[in-house]
Amino acid sequence: MFLTVLPALLVACMSASVRGFVVPGGLVTGSGSAVVFHAHGPSNTSPASGKIIEYTVVEVNEGQGYNASNGVFMAPAGGMYMFSTQTCIWSNTFVLIAIIKEGVVVQPSALYDTSPGYAPCFSSQAFVRLSAGQRVWVESRRTNNGNMLFEDEGRWTSFSGVLL
Ligand SMILES: *[C@@H]1O[C@H](CO)[C@@H](O)[C@H](O)[C@H]1NC(C)=O
Repeated sequence: MFLTVLPALLVACMSASVRGFVVPGGLVTGSGSAVVFHAHGPSNTSPASGKIIEYTVVEVNEGQGYNASNGVFMAPAGGMYMFSTQTCIWSNTFVLIAIIKEGVVVQPSALYDTSPGYAPCFSSQAFVRLSAGQRVWVESRRTNNGNMLFEDEGRWTSFSGVLL
């Protein structure tokens, strides 16, 4: 019974999935030019106020826009980008960070953690229109504790972006 029904089921599933790709009007696939990066592992867990946070471990860098040596993303192409950053901090730490475009804050964020012995994370996003060559980075704005940033295998302090 099973043996006779199974091939018929398989054929039905396959033709269904093939039909799934045939969308009236065609697929919407975005810009088609892959610019995307994701990096974590800050070089300095105590960045002074005004310092760029340098994320040294590069997971993805299609388009080569992100520079791990200085933490700065430089747009290889113009367009609308989405940036995202996650920041994990030591307990009893007060932190302000911001996503910055060419020296102008496009998304500020803050967290004050009072929980004992646990390093939480917060994240923020920004949608930014860039011309080719314009730069975006994450900056430390203020902290009450020199050793503010945290990363281990359970939480990454990261920065990522994509051309939409
Ligand atoms: C990356 O940053 C370093 C340090 O600022 C700089 O020397 C280097 O030229 C940059 N690389 C690119 C491709 O811009």
